Amino acid sequence: EKTRNWKPIIKIAVSGAAGMISNHLLFKIASGEVFGPDQPVALRLLGSERSQVALEGVAMELEDCLFPLLREVDLGIDAKKVFEDADWALLIGAKPRGPGMERGDLLEMNGGLFAEQGKALNEVAKKTCKVMVVGNPCNTNALICMANAPNLDKRNFHALTRLDENRAKCQLALKAGVFYETVSNVTIWGNHSTTQVPDFVNAKIGGERCTDVIDDQTWLENDFTPAIQTRGGLLIKKWGRSSAASTAVSIADAIKALVTPTKEGDWFSSAVITDGNPYGIEEGLVFSMPCRSKGDGSYEVVEGLKINDWLRERIKKSEEELSNERGCVAHLMGVEGASCV
Ligand code: LMR
Repeated sequence: EKTRNWKPIIKIAVSGAAGMISNHLLFKIASGEVFGPDQPVALRLLGSERSQVALEGVAMELEDCLFPLLREVDLGIDAKKVFEDADWALLIGAKPRGPGMERGDLLEMNGGLFAEQGKALNEVAKKTCKVMVVGNPCNTNALICMANAPNLDKRNFHALTRLDENRAKCQLALKAGVFYETVSNVTIWGNHSTTQVPDFVNAKIGGERCTDVIDDQTWLENDFTPAIQTRGGLLIKKWGRSSAASTAVSIADAIKALVTPTKEGDWFSSAVITDGNPYGIEEGLVFSMPCRSKGDGSYEVVEGLKINDWLRERIKKSEEELSNERGCVAHLMGVEGASCV
């Protein structure tokens, strides 16, 4: 202990902690794979009344791993206790969609939960707490959470689109016959829904333009794009439940992207507040855009990507969808007179 230069312990609150995604993610966090090998962590696990006992089981497994970086495991079902002094809040718990549903169908069911958790974060979390929303529909849930947590900077909130980015990178790599690592600069624009826009226009493969390496516009537009937009749904159809392991990996990737400096010339996707964005996207939405980080947990939106007509038209659709979703949850954001179709 004395010979090692440990950083101060950080507190990581995780909701839906007894669920499938968490069951993959918690062990990555506790092992040091996410926050780094010199970063001790305290895990604060939030469950529901229904999952309370299961949560005790999860905690037992965490203890039994003897992870040297895991300094504390606390359990609870009251967000106001579990989120106390949190440095990070990973909001995973929510009702997932089943076969044939769109993520937006969950808005009514899950929206209230995120209003409540926003209020709890506002009261008890650190003002600097970073919030990563995973439960669907994640963009609008993040917006609801943000609206209920005015003490936290809006730029502390993220909704997860890293899973979509990873899916896009994989499909581009397979098509080009190269290794995933060589695919970079992949942006997911917009909503984590079927209107999302996986940007092959600005993507690179081996440092070259993706459209030069994959010289097949028809495939990029008509196969690749819908394949990424609907991959979550296809997985539910095949597996009978929503993605868990790959989601956990992408949450780990999304956090690592914020706590390590972004590689020169590259970026990552995250859904963040559109206020002051350089692409003319309507303000007051949580919208996936290209981001970079210095590695201190904060980010900046990357400017100057080429938005051609094909992209612009589709980005607009996702923007309209999110604007409408926001109208539907205005009552949860303390806004009156909004409309929802
Ligand atoms: C996913 O993309 O796999 C998740 O958002 C689950 C879903 O509903 O598709």
